Amino acid sequence: MQAISVGLLGLGTVGSGVVRIIENHQDKLMHQVGCPIKVKKILVQDVEKERSVKVDPSLLTVNPADIMEDPEIEVVIEVMGGIEDTREHLIQALRSKKNIVTANKDLMAVHGSELLTVANENGCDLFFEASVAGGIPILRSLVDGLASDRITKMMGIVNGTTNYILTKMSQEGLAYDSVLKEAQQLGYAEANPASDVEGLDAARKMAIMASLGFSMKIDLDDVKFKGITTVTEEDLQYGKQLGYTMKLLGIAVLDGDKVEVCVEPALLPSTHPLASVNNEYNAVYVYGEAVGETMFYGPGAGSLPTATAVVSDLVGVVKNMRLGVNGSSFVTPQYEKQLKDDGE
Ligand code: NAP
Ligand code: HSE
Repeated sequence: MQAISVGLLGLGTVGSGVVRIIENHQDKLMHQVGCPIKVKKILVQDVEKERSVKVDPSLLTVNPADIMEDPEIEVVIEVMGGIEDTREHLIQALRSKKNIVTANKDLMAVHGSELLTVANENGCDLFFEASVAGGIPILRSLVDGLASDRITKMMGIVNGTTNYILTKMSQEGLAYDSVLKEAQQLGYAEANPASDVEGLDAARKMAIMASLGFSMKIDLDDVKFKGITTVTEEDLQYGKQLGYTMKLLGIAVLDGDKVEVCVEPALLPSTHPLASVNNEYNAVYVYGEAVGETMFYGPGAGSLPTATAVVSDLVGVVKNMRLGVNGSSFVTPQYEKQLKDDGE
């Protein structure tokens, strides 16, 4: 069976994990999709850079055209970050009928609607499970697992860096700056960590999650957000003495046809299940009218957990290729109609 060729954009924290999982889980992937998967080209900024994962140097390129214009490459995995240039690369790839998997919430929160429309027009998949809550398969759970239910509320911890900082400050009395550095070294933080600590990263994720959970287009501008930059060690200690734990919470509520989405630091009773979600872990409560309360928990950032979500999306794309049903994406007909109406 002919191998599926993949073009990888980025070989940093997440990209290295993707290469590792494709190599180390080749047997499992073969069972899932019935053919080998090979990474044919990898876009980076610096081909000479020392890497944490070993790859054949001939795979590396600084020229996006080596991927976008290669007709053998059927799937592009985008794990390089960035917004405007990255949007252009992905639109070019979709117009060349390449399916896309991305972990890029910055891009999806701003240009997701446009990219989904272009993907649907070109009969391509665009999957982005890794863009929200790292290794937790929350988007698929909302779109598939809870497809029959009416979701009315989602609430959770969706940023690993800030949860790591709050945990270490509160439990070990460590200083904000030194813990942020640690989170950066561990590969949890964004290239610009301001988006983590100011709440923007969580706001982007809440916009994506609410769009899929409520099946309607929710823009980043609709999300009110506040980060943890003004939280002090004293705030955390006072809260603790009174039986409360501080977490950066994302909350999305559907009331009739009105939606409210926000991100803010909140004091939770220390007995609340979300209060014991520590370090880089994330957790999301989803309330459905029929199912009641469900909670999804797992690592929200980091190389292998995030790459698991990326490669699982890749498996979804390849299964759809086999069935000839690419273009289904994560989008429901109701959401698709809204995207079309907005585009007109
Ligand atoms: P990273 O470690 O900084 O890696 C970025 C990679 O992309 C590097 O290999 C870099 O090349 C390459 N790159 C960046 N800009 C480029 C450009 N203009 N042209 C060519 N190559 C370029 O980032 P990351 O942590 O893996 O994150 C990647 C994406 O995943 C981001 O969208 C992030 O938000 C998302 N994400 C990250 C995590 C996480 O835990 N880290 C979790 C979920 C989602 P060089 O290596 O040559 O510099
Ligand atoms: N910087 C992000 C976080 C990476 O800390 O949650 C995962 O999206």
